[in-house]
Amino acid sequence: MELNNDLFVPTYGRGGAPMVSGHGCYLVDGNGKEYLDFVSGIAVNALGYGDAALEQALDVQGKRLLHGSNLWLSDTQMALAAKLIETSFADRIFFCNSGTEANEAALKFARKWASKKKPSKTAVLSFFDGFHGRTYGAMTATAQKKFHDGFHPLPQGYYYAPFNDIAGTKAMLDMADFAAVIVEPIQGEGGVNVATPEFMKFLREYTAEHEIALIFDEIQCGLGRTGTIWAYEQMGVTPDILTSAKPLGGGLPLGAVLVKEEIALCLAPGDHGTTFGGNPLACALGKVVLDRVSQKEMLAQIISKGNYLQSELKKVASQSDLIESVLGMGLLTGVRFKDDPKKIIEKAFDKGLLIVKAGRNTVRFIPPLTVTEQEIDQAIAILKDALV
Ligand SMILES: Cc1ncc(COP(=O)(O)O)c(C=O)c1O
Repeated sequence: MELNNDLFVPTYGRGGAPMVSGHGCYLVDGNGKEYLDFVSGIAVNALGYGDAALEQALDVQGKRLLHGSNLWLSDTQMALAAKLIETSFADRIFFCNSGTEANEAALKFARKWASKKKPSKTAVLSFFDGFHGRTYGAMTATAQKKFHDGFHPLPQGYYYAPFNDIAGTKAMLDMADFAAVIVEPIQGEGGVNVATPEFMKFLREYTAEHEIALIFDEIQCGLGRTGTIWAYEQMGVTPDILTSAKPLGGGLPLGAVLVKEEIALCLAPGDHGTTFGGNPLACALGKVVLDRVSQKEMLAQIISKGNYLQSELKKVASQSDLIESVLGMGLLTGVRFKDDPKKIIEKAFDKGLLIVKAGRNTVRFIPPLTVTEQEIDQAIAILKDALV
């Protein structure tokens, strides 16, 4: 292990044998040990491992065309863009390779649009405990100091407000000329904090009144994870821009920015771009993922399995002094512990269950959307074992 870790810049503290394959809801390491995967590549592997339709699309598109260029049109990119528009508020799509890139593009689009309204409208508001990515714009929009330490100077014009706090947010918004507000409807990395409908309604009304672009970062909570295609559908408001990534490419790198017409039309050729974004193979897989997670039966199952997972976790919580609460929506579920759950996550790993920390004391349960009730039962049994 020590030798293996010598190969990398030490940005991850990882151990165990390398993961080499997967099937269904299970990841398999090089020693043949199987792990029930309630991390799913951090909310990426929505259809689990070895999905037949994904493999078929890989095969077909893999033989047709891996990379053309964004200089030319791509048929798989067009098909996915049309489906994203059909299933959302958006009029136009920009493709990129990751969540971070989607947020960078969203912030650029918002600033371009806002500067046409008034050149001084440049400020960006984001929220404590949010997470938007690791490049300079996305990292600066991520409010927590720990992500900034050692990387100064940061880009200017970023402000932070307390999540779900209408008065605190209004006070910040009144302070400067804002171009954009970026918010996760459910903060994933920050601890599975769900936005209240009143907070989202306030954000929508304030930004509409003051001509500020409202950006929903649905990179973790979107694409079926909460039981609707987009999480905002359950919150009674629509954004001006939405960012998507993680599960979108079916395991290949793919991000998308969903944009309203008025904002999209402020951009011209050359204003933004990417070599690989919207790669034909990733988009072919993306179409399979989006087709699947927009099926009514699939969404209904996510809601019922999410309810089942939450009610089983609540039973565990009621019998354990270590747990404070159970949080989340659909299959984006968190268990908040009173203390750091690091040891519990390690014990679960040894016993064959993958779970991942969020925020200070929360453990996320984000299985493939195809998880079964039997697999949920198995995860609960291992969790109980790890708690003693
Ligand atoms: C809500 C949210 N936004 C943005 C990102 C960054 O995405 P990526 O790691 O694909 O750059 C993440 C990743 O965890 C995320 O959860």
